[in-house]
Amino acid sequence: MSHDLFEAARDAMARAYAPYSKFPVGAAIRADDGKIYVGANIENLSFPQGWCAEPTAIGNMVMGGGRRIVEMAVIAEKLALCPPCGGCRQKIAEFAGPETRVYLCDEVGVQKTMTMEELLPFSFKTEMLG
Ligand code: THU
Repeated sequence: MSHDLFEAARDAMARAYAPYSKFPVGAAIRADDGKIYVGANIENLSFPQGWCAEPTAIGNMVMGGGRRIVEMAVIAEKLALCPPCGGCRQKIAEFAGPETRVYLCDEVGVQKTMTMEELLPFSFKTEMLG
């Protein structure tokens, strides 16, 4: 069930530090350890130094002991169905598979489900780097 992930992402969004864009984003990951890890965007006065909600959640997952993303929810206060940015798609793909579901939300719940294959087709993959 994805409603708990939606609620976790929405609650995480409330912790966003987005004084420059005023565009709070929240993300929640259900990981392979059964736990939910959350994140929000964290901006910086030196604008390029800020980062998105998704990598905050990924960092929390890795440091909390989760290794793989089972499913993920993303929400933005000011944009229904906010899709993860390109860089975030690559970051999510590192810990997900082509069938991993990403839930795009509005203020009441999950409104659209996409797989990573749909979000990031023809992604960068190589055996060369291990
Ligand atoms: N943002 C995210 O947190 N995730 C995304 O996938 C899209 C963009 C953040 C970055 C920045 O803090 C704000 O939204 C406006 O771009």
